[in-house]
Amino acid sequence: MENKVKVSAPLVFVTGKGGVGKSLWAAGLATQLARSGKKVLLVEFGETSFYGFFYGKSFGMDPVAIENNLHLSIWSGATCLRDYIGHLVKIDRLADLFFENKVMKALIRGAPALKELAILGKATSGVRNYGPELDFDHVIFDSYATGHFLALLRAPVGMYEAIKFGPMGDQSKAIVKTMSDPRLTEYHVVSLLEELPVSETIELCDALKSEFNDNIKVVVNKSLRALPTIETSSNVFESSIQRNLSRQNHAWEHLLKHYEPAVEVPYYFESEPQKLVDHMAQHSGDAIHGGPS
Ligand SMILES: Nc1ncnc2c1ncn2[C@@H]1O[C@H](COP(=O)(O)OP(=O)(O)O)[C@@H](O)[C@H]1O
Ligand SMILES: [Mg+2]
Repeated sequence: MENKVKVSAPLVFVTGKGGVGKSLWAAGLATQLARSGKKVLLVEFGETSFYGFFYGKSFGMDPVAIENNLHLSIWSGATCLRDYIGHLVKIDRLADLFFENKVMKALIRGAPALKELAILGKATSGVRNYGPELDFDHVIFDSYATGHFLALLRAPVGMYEAIKFGPMGDQSKAIVKTMSDPRLTEYHVVSLLEELPVSETIELCDALKSEFNDNIKVVVNKSLRALPTIETSSNVFESSIQRNLSRQNHAWEHLLKHYEPAVEVPYYFESEPQKLVDHMAQHSGDAIHGGPS
């Protein structure tokens, strides 16, 4: 198929159902953009790190170079909030005092939207020229799974509706504006060719389109349709592949009625993480540059 993944926005949020290959797509895409000369930051959300696991070391909020032009950073609600307060208060020691304060801790725990706001505030700070500098051509977010992701995006919308005025209102509004601008933010929704992930993908894309913006790329992953014909002497294996293939074709038709996938990534018979990332990078590179799929 013709590939149409052309990363146009500086901010790319990768989402999709759990286990569909979000982290691998985000890593491959970030690697490929970096190899093509862009300065890229790959951000993993949350405490579990795909890269931490595969490099066998821990990463934090400060970007660490993992390849030429490619930096990695891990963000959580708490670290983003601490970062933001640090920016406001300027003096680290004071920010720590503020953050370690019992009342503040309780407030942060009790107001979950605050963490979401801090994450998106930081994510959009570079393009908004606000807050601590984030100086990259592209920031790729290996983001949360579908439901959690929508909750993240909706937090500043809710905040703005609740508080229209003052700095909180202004910040929320600016964040929502950035997330709604297709020139600044794009969404990559990774899906498998199975009934549930495809339905979830369609619903998520509908929500993103109506509530934020339509710069959405659907990435079909682990496709058997994209595999070369497998010659095998095992009838059991052969018929199992055929069954899965026809299920995938069915799911593909369903998806196509709603959204045309931008790229179809084959299932790789490979288990080594770095090789998988390289495969993925190659594939997204072909996709970015419009080469063969
Ligand atoms: N195209 C693919 N071919 C083979 N294995 C893949 C492919 N995409 C992802 N995987 C593997 O599937 C598992 C889930 O992928 P991951 O990127 O961690 O998903 P997510 O971040 O959505 O939870 C990982 O072990 C990953 O290496
Ligand atoms: Mg992941």
